[in-house]
Amino acid sequence: MNKVDLSGYDPKRRAFFRRGLMLLSGLLAALVGIPAIAFLIEPLVEKIRSNEVELGPIEELTDRPRKYVIRFMTQTGWVKSEKVMTLYARRAAPDSDEVVVMSNICTHLGCPARWEDENDRFFCPCHDGIYDIEGRVIGGPPPRPLDRLKPIVRDGYLFVDPTDYIHQIDEEKLLGGKGSTEEG
Ligand code: FES
Repeated sequence: MNKVDLSGYDPKRRAFFRRGLMLLSGLLAALVGIPAIAFLIEPLVEKIRSNEVELGPIEELTDRPRKYVIRFMTQTGWVKSEKVMTLYARRAAPDSDEVVVMSNICTHLGCPARWEDENDRFFCPCHDGIYDIEGRVIGGPPPRPLDRLKPIVRDGYLFVDPTDYIHQIDEEKLLGGKGSTEEG
């Protein structure tokens, strides 16, 4: 009867090689898989990175401010958080394709201002701040006009990047050289 020679057999060594092989297979799978996954989620990553938010079809707009409440993601370091923002958009004139988008955050102490169509003004109830349809201060303590956001029109739809504000400090320049009508 033949006997099997087990003198060179080392179970620990064999387990070591098996683990090494598994590790190598895992690394190879990751090398192939990561670019494929990155390719698949790239549009999503791009969307978060660009922060563009769709407001809707531009044909919805008139020359009166229309309210939009948007949600978007911001990132500080590794921490992502959802933010909510209220905006007003309108056409610059009844038949104009030029769009104006304004933040509702009062430039005094940051309360939300709202459009009052019947009074033709933005009103901030915190300290009676009043702005005209262009966002210029016409009453109360706000030190400067409402901020604007750059409208992005693509394929008939309006988008904004809510992290990209235009602070209207230079009123002469940003309001077409009309200057401020601030009275209070
Ligand atoms: S916060 Fe708007 S007027 Fe003070």
